[in-house]
Amino acid sequence: MSAKRRVFSGIQPSGTLTLGNYLGAIKRWVEGQDAKENFICVVDLHAITVPQDPDALRANTRATAALLLAAGIDPARTTLFVQSHVRAHAEASWLLSCVAPLGWLERMTQYKAKAAAQESVLTALLTYPILQAGDILLYDAHEVPVGEDQKQHIELARDIAQRFNHLFGELLVVPEPKIAAAGARVMGLDDPAKKMSKSATARGHAVRLTDSDDEIRWAFKRAVTDSGREIVFSDEPEKAGVNNLLTIYQVTTGKDPDAVVADFASARGYGDLKTWVADAVIEAITPIRTRFHELMADPAELDRQVALGADHAREIAEAKLVAIKEAMGFGVPAALR
Ligand code: TRP
Repeated sequence: MSAKRRVFSGIQPSGTLTLGNYLGAIKRWVEGQDAKENFICVVDLHAITVPQDPDALRANTRATAALLLAAGIDPARTTLFVQSHVRAHAEASWLLSCVAPLGWLERMTQYKAKAAAQESVLTALLTYPILQAGDILLYDAHEVPVGEDQKQHIELARDIAQRFNHLFGELLVVPEPKIAAAGARVMGLDDPAKKMSKSATARGHAVRLTDSDDEIRWAFKRAVTDSGREIVFSDEPEKAGVNNLLTIYQVTTGKDPDAVVADFASARGYGDLKTWVADAVIEAITPIRTRFHELMADPAELDRQVALGADHAREIAEAKLVAIKEAMGFGVPAALR
């Protein structure tokens, strides 16, 4: 057993990764690679809980893995893998669905919101948090860093682990959610009341890690601000746009809030604010974009790096799955060990 705490994170391949994904999650995963034992999973099985075009799903899954590597996830220190490359995830989901009462799933607020917005709801949209619980429990993860929107799903994973342990003996680690700080939440440039989303399609909403310099400047130039001219951090709703731009600058540069405000003391207005934030973002993203294009131009190397993670993940997940099945009363034949 490793002495380091295990951390499991999942990210959906539902669109090209954004500046929000980078500043809110990926940057911290990169910086935390040595302190903990990290698993990062591109959750393609989760993505199909809403209809996906097969070619688009395949392309998005590859691009998401490539962008994570390009952003600094090091396959020698972090286990980065694609969920469907490890069969144990789908199997764990079935087994755990026989432990989780339906009422627990029907209570999930994300399910209720998504289901209300669709005419026809897939079964898997309801059972999605069970797949997620399996992701975490297969790896004995202690910590799960997520945004506030995923907290209820991690609590469900805890409930499932506890119920399993009660029914079949102490086998599963009960994971803890680690909720990102409020400052780490990047909002949409077109609407600072909404979290920046990789699946939103409105032009000017998100900055994507693959965007050109011109696209990035265009999006920042159009960013929603307010009719005032004060460049300050603020939680007043009408200052949300300016606050978002300053937060982006702060997290991108790693400066403290006073230094950020000082940097903008000589700005002549929001025009300068937007240009300077765009410049800082372009400087931070350029190396990621360059490495991304190198990886995408060398599919064999990308496959090799992604396979390394799957090999390691499979070893851990398969062993845990055998233990889960034995505890539940299945005889596990030699061929499955
Ligand atoms: N459901 C998460 C999301 O949409 C992604 C996810 C899947 C995940 N499995 C996970 C997150 C396990 C943390 C741990 O963002």
